[in-house]
Amino acid sequence: MAEVQIYEGAVDKGLEGVVACTTAVSSIVGDTLNFRGYTIEDLAENSNFEEVTFLLWNDRLPNKNELQAFRSELSREMSLPADYLKVLKTLPTNVHPMAWLRTAVSLLSHWDTDANDNSPEANRRKALRLTAKMGTIVCAYEAIRNKREPVAPQADKSVAWNFMHMLTGKEPESDLVKVFDTCLILHADHELNCSAFATRVTASSLSDLHSAVVSAIGALKGPLHGGANEQVILMLKNIGNIEKAQQFVKDALAAKEKVMGIGHRVYKNGDPRARILRGISEKLTKKIGEPQWYEMSTLIDDTMNKEKGLMPNVDFYSATVYYSMRIPTDLFTPIFAVSRITGWCAHAMEQYANNRIYRPRGRWTGKDGLKWVPVEKR
Ligand code: COA
Repeated sequence: MAEVQIYEGAVDKGLEGVVACTTAVSSIVGDTLNFRGYTIEDLAENSNFEEVTFLLWNDRLPNKNELQAFRSELSREMSLPADYLKVLKTLPTNVHPMAWLRTAVSLLSHWDTDANDNSPEANRRKALRLTAKMGTIVCAYEAIRNKREPVAPQADKSVAWNFMHMLTGKEPESDLVKVFDTCLILHADHELNCSAFATRVTASSLSDLHSAVVSAIGALKGPLHGGANEQVILMLKNIGNIEKAQQFVKDALAAKEKVMGIGHRVYKNGDPRARILRGISEKLTKKIGEPQWYEMSTLIDDTMNKEKGLMPNVDFYSATVYYSMRIPTDLFTPIFAVSRITGWCAHAMEQYANNRIYRPRGRWTGKDGLKWVPVEKR
């Protein structure tokens, strides 16, 4: 067998620009994001989360009957098994909700009759259950930590409507449901981002879908990925008022600290999702009578651009959007998972269908030739 050639050039720290797989789920072309060939602007304007999920999994838009059937399937799977909910109630809630969610999703596999079946049909069923239940699980966390009984999902209502209803138990405003649905669309997938890659790495060992999704949740949790949206609102609150915003940015740059929600590995002229969210943020912060958060955000946005040529990513304006919807700050990243579960499942299914295990190499920088010495001689 021919010896594997090891690349001797510079190490691609963070794999910047490395093409690690082929994919037909979503693409970034220049500064345009496409899901299965449709631009994100087109989908955000005209589609809905359920339809986008169908699109990501089936490589085409559904017809009317298919969409209705898909919505019904999702509705049927939204509730949580009673015994599972009982165990969820015993989990301590004094951890970050993303840590709780990671455990909850792992636990869910114990109730999934397809857990050990890695066939395409079983994976589709599991993807559907995970997507349907993710919002219910996040809302159950919110109820449990507030010592309330979790609100059950309602059949024939959308994922967005149910999430907002289960979060508070109150009938959600229809314009906010629309906004939330748009947010779900915007976050549904994003080419080979960190958590999609984590999904594919785990799936590539032919491990099960729940394991792949748990890997993804762990990756999303970090502040350099999905965790940034929560950090943005904490940063804005910490700055406190607009007069201090410019100096905050200059100090952060001088100290070589990251300004959260800014910058992107791939987009260098701005993230198209941030442009859409910026408009929503402006409207909603005005609506709640707190336009200062939007104004502060735009000043930070402009200053970062001027000082460093960096622009906002999806997490920057989604923070003030969720804040304006009165969503608890530490649920911002779990909400990302409520949407991105669709993309993770699409990537896992694509990986299973054309698999080769991920097994790159590391460039050795450690010591060589050491000899073991007995412990008493060290
Ligand atoms: N604030 C301040 N400086 C930033 C920055 C930010 N948010 N993002 C990047 N930079 C700077 C780096 O300090 C570095 O500067 P230098 O060349 O002078 O040392 C340069 O821009 C390149 O940054 P780097 O961290 O190498 O970029 P990356 O491609 O590895 O990382 C992100 C991309 C998104 C992780 C990075 O921009 C970041 O950490 N942003 C904040 C966290 C965030 O919003 N994450 C959500 C991503 S969707």
